[in-house]
Amino acid sequence: MKTSDISGFYKLSVDERLQFVKEFSDLTEEEVSILKKNGSLPIEKADKIIENVITTIELPMGIAVNFRINDRDYLIPMAIEEPSVVAAASNAAKVARKKGGFKAFATDPLMIGEIQVLDVPTPYRAKIELLEEKQKIIEMANTRSRTLSSMNAGAKDIEVEIFENPYRMMIVHLIVDVRDAMGANVINSMCEYIAPEIERITGGRVNLRILSNLTRNRIAYASAVFSKDIIGEKAVNTIIDAYHMAAIDIYRAATNNKGIMNGVDAVLMATMNDWRSAEANAHSYAALYGYGPLARYEKDENGDLVGTIEIPIAVGTVGGTTRSIDKARIAMKILGVKDSREFAGVLAAVGLAQNFAALRALATEGIQRGHMELHSRNIAMSVGAVGDEIDRVVARMLEEKDISMTNAKKILDEIRKK
Ligand code: MEV
Repeated sequence: MKTSDISGFYKLSVDERLQFVKEFSDLTEEEVSILKKNGSLPIEKADKIIENVITTIELPMGIAVNFRINDRDYLIPMAIEEPSVVAAASNAAKVARKKGGFKAFATDPLMIGEIQVLDVPTPYRAKIELLEEKQKIIEMANTRSRTLSSMNAGAKDIEVEIFENPYRMMIVHLIVDVRDAMGANVINSMCEYIAPEIERITGGRVNLRILSNLTRNRIAYASAVFSKDIIGEKAVNTIIDAYHMAAIDIYRAATNNKGIMNGVDAVLMATMNDWRSAEANAHSYAALYGYGPLARYEKDENGDLVGTIEIPIAVGTVGGTTRSIDKARIAMKILGVKDSREFAGVLAAVGLAQNFAALRALATEGIQRGHMELHSRNIAMSVGAVGDEIDRVVARMLEEKDISMTNAKKILDEIRKK
């Protein structure tokens, strides 16, 4: 019997780990040699970033073009495995550009750290005492970041909530202005540091001390006008109808927001930022008042389509993995944002572009034609087509309206026989 119960796996060298995986998973020599190929991220460095490393993995990174945001042009690096996302963003940006491009804005980067306090004997009195001692708690928290304090940022406020049902507890929120950081580390340090003081004041027992990934005070907004002369009057109306569906139907809203995150996550992947926190943030914000779409559409006085998005975004331009991984650092350079608020505004614009492109396709000819054309390339490659064989297999599959592995294989065999 094979076992995955292996202690000290982390102590092995990368090669030894690979050997173990090879035996466990019956990898061939060829498969192992593929895993041994690494790109610009040296394996020694990868081994220091996460645990139990055996290889690095690549994703295609493309550039979305045509983006004009707040009267400035941007090239947007996007790393993603899904075809048509980069093309869709670029097309939407081209339409928006005709009416001046995107307007984007982000609030101050205020994040929330949470402290869970249990067994407080008199929670309502403790709440008042906490609020009375607020300044002292804030000053204590701010000793954890000299940088933020020197920028007049850092911890700013506390909020206290008491819950009775179904569990009795107090939750203290520490509100922190994290400036250009994502903020997780500094907030967690602050929360851990002030916890004993919270226990002293409340007489309770602190359990969790952790940031919240829902950043309702760190929001990015973007808007754009999509001209009816380009998309057609009919599409203006059908896109608004499509938005209304997401506004009343959670099943549609989930897919709608997934499309928005296709764009946001791809930029976060290219710049190696935490896209899981972005996902948690966006979806929990969408659910704050009953799950709904993050972008909205309306018709203006000229009959053009106005798209707007309101999305919480917690990204940093300092700290994090971005700086230590060369390609991520270069992706940031390509993007050329100067601070976290500008970055958040760009991400909001990309999310809106992605949503508009998806709704435009869905509410007109449907998504499948464009999707399948691009998908067919992947199918052609997965059956082994290389070089110009790929285009030939794709063309035949489209012509025969049969985009499948079986057909791709059949066409490839025929091409090779000739
Ligand atoms: C596919 O990855 C994303 C879409 O489903 C988004 C949407 O339906 O709005 C096309």
